[in-house]
Amino acid sequence: MDILRLTQITDLHLGADGAATLGGVPTKASFEAVLAAVATQGRGDDRLLLTGDLASDCQPEAYQILNRILTSHNKQAFWLPGNHDDAGIMAEHLVDFPDQKIVDLGPWGLLTLDSSQPHKPGGHISDEQLLHVEQGLQTLACKPHILLAMHHSPVLLNSAWLDSQQIDNRDRLYELLQSSGNVKAVITGHVHQQFEGRWGDIPVYSTPSSCVQFKAQSDDFTLSDQPPGYRWLDLHPDGQVVTGVEFLSDFSPRPDLGCAGY
Ligand SMILES: [Fe+2]
Repeated sequence: MDILRLTQITDLHLGADGAATLGGVPTKASFEAVLAAVATQGRGDDRLLLTGDLASDCQPEAYQILNRILTSHNKQAFWLPGNHDDAGIMAEHLVDFPDQKIVDLGPWGLLTLDSSQPHKPGGHISDEQLLHVEQGLQTLACKPHILLAMHHSPVLLNSAWLDSQQIDNRDRLYELLQSSGNVKAVITGHVHQQFEGRWGDIPVYSTPSSCVQFKAQSDDFTLSDQPPGYRWLDLHPDGQVVTGVEFLSDFSPRPDLGCAGY
């Protein structure tokens, strides 16, 4: 059986028009540069997994821009909301990309969830989302391997301001995932940096943003000078996950390191 190839792009922070910036970086241009790099790497036909904060403030126009870019690149894309998104507005405007939360990918199943909560940056899994996970795991029980994707991190990154936004009720979710026995990895966005660790028995991967990165192990909000990035994943039929992160070293608009928040 073939290796399943996925490309994760996260925290796009697109604005209502193409000129919007985050930390001095034009977010539409950096997202398009990431897509070009993905194609250059020979992964242009891969499925995309977009793990939240696709807009900077859930603007309909941002999702319309995203829909146009993805269709012009002929992409298949799965998406989920972050704390800067609104799932309903996304579903309304990502017209060519139906909201798929339980996906059959051959020997692998993909399960996505919404870890955002209204008017708060931190992660929380609502009762409704816990039920969705429980039902999703049942639906995918025939799959030997499951990848779970969500916006917020369930683990600490030794960065006080980001760690305060860790999913506050992660234990119940962990019980569900662990008891299913076939969740092979958890993948997240939100932290704007590369991270590979473990959540108990389950490997966890976080991924740099397609625009600006946060400085690792910083207790306060601080940008890093790292360029835009993305993560590639090769999901093997035997359950092995081979993954890596690529940065766009030749992308020229550099972040404003004096930026004090977002
Ligand atoms: Fe976020």
